[in-house]
Amino acid sequence: RRDLIGIEGLSAPEITGLLDLAEEFVVLNRQIEKKRTTLRGRTQINLFFEASTRTQSSFEIAGKRLGADVMNMSVGNSSVKKGETLIDTAMTLNAMHPDLLVVRHQSSGAVALLARKVDCCVINAGDGAHEHPTQALLDALTIRRNKGPITGLVVAICGDVLHSRVARSNILLLHTLGAQVRVVAPSTLLPAGIQHFPVEVHRSMESGLEGADIVMMLRLQRERMAGSFIPSVKEYFHYYGLDEAKLKRAKPDALVMHPGPMNRGVEIDSAVADGAQSLIREQVEMGVAVRMAVLDALARKLPNA
Ligand code: CP
Repeated sequence: RRDLIGIEGLSAPEITGLLDLAEEFVVLNRQIEKKRTTLRGRTQINLFFEASTRTQSSFEIAGKRLGADVMNMSVGNSSVKKGETLIDTAMTLNAMHPDLLVVRHQSSGAVALLARKVDCCVINAGDGAHEHPTQALLDALTIRRNKGPITGLVVAICGDVLHSRVARSNILLLHTLGAQVRVVAPSTLLPAGIQHFPVEVHRSMESGLEGADIVMMLRLQRERMAGSFIPSVKEYFHYYGLDEAKLKRAKPDALVMHPGPMNRGVEIDSAVADGAQSLIREQVEMGVAVRMAVLDALARKLPNA
């Protein structure tokens, strides 16, 4: 496989192989000398049509640590602003012979469409509400390092599941690795057809968090709710915001995750986000290692590798 478009279609051994490779990069990243030459002579372009802090910066660091020449395409200052289409933009960049293209786009399916048009490896850095595969991989690595094997763990994914590519990729990955996955949300924030996903559906935090090993909170994506129901922040936090009282429903050694960016006081209380059970900072660290693993694995499939 030349691209990473989603977790869908990846087997358990493929996922585990990427996580094992990422473990090597966790060790490397904690050393003073962090450079490898795997991608020396290769060109990586990061093409982000949507805002990003964690994903874009970690892909840039990951590419540079592996020796690639990394270019961050500034979409805000590009000819996209003059009306150039996604495909024309991609074909223009393709003509410069990049080896790796990391793409984030606001539309589900846009990255897969682009991947069919270009010659290089394409990595999905998040497309609409569809998938965010490297986020799910870094979440799995973080869970595995803290809880051991993922098989049998109870993972509660809570909040705005409807708009979340993180939820979708995590459901697919965690189910593939044998976790018992729950989603916890009001009916208005659950996708149609949720009953066809391999998850238990809960509409209250009280039942959804009962006995959970991992509580994964999602950002309330108000920017994707234009024209639809937008809950009041106060009411949302009351029923679905994770605070210390609600967390007590989970196992005593339960751990808390959030992909970021966080809305403190909306989906998560600061006392929990910054508390002893939080893995949120470790998730960011694992992001660099996982992206190095994905770049490394795809680089082996490049011509003349
Ligand atoms: N989790 C995540 O994708 O964060 P960014 O939007 O900052 O990249």
